[in-house]
Amino acid sequence: MDIIHSAAALRLRLQGEPNNVFVPTMGNLHDGHIQLINIAKPRAACTVVSIFVNRLQFGPREDFDRYPRTLESDSARLEAAGVDVVFAPDEQEIYPEPQTFVVEPSDLQYILEGAHRPGHFRGVATVVLKLFNLVMPHSAIFGKKDYQQYLVLLDMVKQFALPIEIIPAETVRAPDGLALSSRNAYLTPEERREAPRLYSVLKKIRSEIEGGARDFQRLDQKAMAELSSHGWQPDYVAVRRRADLRPPTERDRELVIVAAARLGRPRLIDNVEITLR
Ligand code: PAF
Repeated sequence: MDIIHSAAALRLRLQGEPNNVFVPTMGNLHDGHIQLINIAKPRAACTVVSIFVNRLQFGPREDFDRYPRTLESDSARLEAAGVDVVFAPDEQEIYPEPQTFVVEPSDLQYILEGAHRPGHFRGVATVVLKLFNLVMPHSAIFGKKDYQQYLVLLDMVKQFALPIEIIPAETVRAPDGLALSSRNAYLTPEERREAPRLYSVLKKIRSEIEGGARDFQRLDQKAMAELSSHGWQPDYVAVRRRADLRPPTERDRELVIVAAARLGRPRLIDNVEITLR
């Protein structure tokens, strides 16, 4: 496995490597990332993983400075997973000058996560386009835990006619249901015991909808109240349609229930999909 820090060396390494698949990450890898790599590997001769904590997608009061940088242990995991190339640039390499050209996503960037993290999806789309231009993969894998990110990037690829297939990967969960995330490391032991509640409230909404409930706003509010009464500060719990995360109409069958809530220091997000018959 090659660990490469400069864009020039990456281009050189990938010259004559037309068959590559890409997994962008911010490092601090967990089993969810390894699942992305397992999906990637059979699809191409060369699997490229980037590790870059992208300042542009963090708000001024978010955890950019304390986001764990764990290149050594990440590299060991990636080597064991059979990755061919790790691209781990520093900030100067990706943003040698202020990034004045940016990717402005559609209005999807302003709702749900976007309403609580202004500028987040602009930052994500901008760095992912830049990484795509460096790696030039035919496919890229993104976890569905970040459902809105996945939709924004699908949109970006479509609108810019990028010859890249975006492949979604299912959320990987701990045995108690908590979705794996680098930010789970911020939970205290007590919060860690409480954390699976986020997934369980989503599953409760799903079974109520499967049982015929259609008053989605009431379900959202009930779930927010349950979280609040257990010490969470929910930003949103929302039943939305899967294609664009807008409120569903009577005709929509493909839904997703998305949620974000703070538990102590970390803010956790999760979602479950539901298909109505
Ligand atoms: O999902 C992430 O880890 C990041 O948002 C990404 C896609 C690597 C862009 O920085």
